[in-house]
Amino acid sequence: MIKGFIFDLDGVITDTAEQHFQAWKQLADEMGWDFDREINERLRGVSRMDSINIIKAHNKAEIPEDQLAELATKKNEYYLASLEEITSEDYLPGTRELLTHLKQEGFRVALGSASKNAAKVLQQLGATGYFDAIGDGNSVSKSKPAPDIFIYAAEKLGLKPEECVVYEDAEAGIDAAKAGGFHAVGIGPEERVGHADIRFDSMKKATLFEVKSHFADLFS
Ligand code: BG6
Ligand code: MG
Repeated sequence: MIKGFIFDLDGVITDTAEQHFQAWKQLADEMGWDFDREINERLRGVSRMDSINIIKAHNKAEIPEDQLAELATKKNEYYLASLEEITSEDYLPGTRELLTHLKQEGFRVALGSASKNAAKVLQQLGATGYFDAIGDGNSVSKSKPAPDIFIYAAEKLGLKPEECVVYEDAEAGIDAAKAGGFHAVGIGPEERVGHADIRFDSMKKATLFEVKSHFADLFS
């Protein structure tokens, strides 16, 4: 039986992909690196250091590891500054309603994000109170597609993977959910999250009613 829900943050609760893009773009411009929205898509759900390594490889740049970490920190400073502008208006449409329904029906709710800034983003949105547990980029060392972050979140909720539904917008995130034995809801296009148990184009469509209808046998 489903007792809990675990949410990715960026691209599920709010669309911070744009702020991540702008911050990487600023760094790339300073470095004279090629960086566009297409490469940015490959960073969805990927940790900060893995992201800079993807950008580095794309540009065939030769940069020592310690300098790479400094550059990632610089990008994070740009990103952090942009988070100040996030408010409770910035939930993706449908997300706040879903979180409210889950609380009303007594489901356990956790965050399972790769971001080390997750607590700050939740705070800006005013969303912290919806979550019984927070798993973020500081909680585990192996990032998605490893299932570790969702296993961590489920343990914090006191639930088994098969008792939890994971909402994810990243290909690596759906891989992680499936590797851990979770029920996976994909948010986004077929080519990105078509391997989820069920896929919706947007959070607005991924209502509790729809998810309950799909996993009907798993809800009492
Ligand atoms: C994920 C984003 O949620 O978090 C990635 O989809 C991002 O784009 C990753 O790189 C890590 O975020 P942060 O805030 O720790 O740099
Ligand atoms: Mg995401």
